[in-house]
Amino acid sequence: MSNATKGEAGSKQFDLLERMNLSEHEMVVFCRDRETGLNGIIGVHNTVLGPAMGGLRMYPYNNESQALDDVLRLSRAMTYKSSLAGINVGGGKAVIIGDPKKDKSEALLRRFGQFVDSLGGKFYAAADVGIKPADLDTIKLETPYVSGVSPLRGGSGDSAPLTAYGVYLGMKAAILHMEGQDKLQGKRVMVQGVGKVGSKLVKHLIDEEAEVYIYDTDLETAKSLEREFQVKRVENEQVLTLDVDILAPCALGGILNEHSIPNLKCRAVVGGANNQLLVEDRDSLALQDRGILFVPDFMVNAGGIVNVSLELQTYHPEVAKRITENIYDTTLKVLELSEKEKMSPLDAAKNLAEKRLREIGKIRLYR
Ligand code: NAI
Repeated sequence: MSNATKGEAGSKQFDLLERMNLSEHEMVVFCRDRETGLNGIIGVHNTVLGPAMGGLRMYPYNNESQALDDVLRLSRAMTYKSSLAGINVGGGKAVIIGDPKKDKSEALLRRFGQFVDSLGGKFYAAADVGIKPADLDTIKLETPYVSGVSPLRGGSGDSAPLTAYGVYLGMKAAILHMEGQDKLQGKRVMVQGVGKVGSKLVKHLIDEEAEVYIYDTDLETAKSLEREFQVKRVENEQVLTLDVDILAPCALGGILNEHSIPNLKCRAVVGGANNQLLVEDRDSLALQDRGILFVPDFMVNAGGIVNVSLELQTYHPEVAKRITENIYDTTLKVLELSEKEKMSPLDAAKNLAEKRLREIGKIRLYR
């Protein structure tokens, strides 16, 4: 076939398969329904450790390509996250293109649930930005392959408190690594985004008498936190240039990039947001060059997936908390490995995650 007859669609398809190949994705499913307005994508990255599991994100992406990028990056990070957390689920993620405030409906969520169901348990959906436990209850009307439903429906409910707890422990481990003591008292911490995760993180920090700065694009959210806690609210322009010990991104990803990194004045970045580095290797290196310790997001924000993954067994909040507490030791181990092997913390964390995937992958051959 000549290049001319291959056509636009052919080259796009080739791009997608090539991208899946590069990022080692097992499967990508596009879900579309005209009646409900559903436009969604499910990314299954790796199922070596168990069924792929990850949050469903509903977000008004500018276009399909942006949504695809997000789902590919997020699902891959879930593989690393679950492997490093020592739990038995694989990496997956789903996105629905749309504004959760305007476009979400019962029919749309249930139609999405039917697509999840059609995968027969290869992917379990949990909550992410724009999706609440109540939405998962709705999705569950169409499929059993959902985790993180409301406690009243037998689920583990909101996973943000445990996510925030893990981030807080990761911060303490980072300070221990930097200073030889793990107290956050008096440390200056900038929390970007004080939604479900960020607000809980603020509470841990205030309890330990850290000096906390906050910013949220939703002014009311920021103001209500300011009323509740002794925090200082800053403006958007200050978030990434404030002179602080720790920057804690807890909103969306990609905020560490070629524009922001040269202006950062923090000593370390430890936060809950997924995929904080815009271009992983480049931006991790740039942070290293600037002497800023980057603690990989997928390592410290694993509390949420730990929580929901336990629904596949028997859920107990104490067990979830205990597994999440391992984040402290894992962070120390990764930072020590990074120093010893002269590699970035990102590479050290990925190495440990890949080691477990290889080892468990081998023993699963005997099942
Ligand atoms: P959320 O939607 O409850 O909170 C996000 C907050 O960030 C909102 O208050 C929003 O107004 C604010 N925001 C959005 N853009 C912003 C910006 N540019 N600057 C400052 N604030 C901004 O979401 P949630 O659950 O708190 O998640 C936050 C991050 O943590 C996301 O990246 C999510 O993927 C990640 N995460 C969440 C987990 C969970 O258990 N909820 C688990 C692991 C990761």
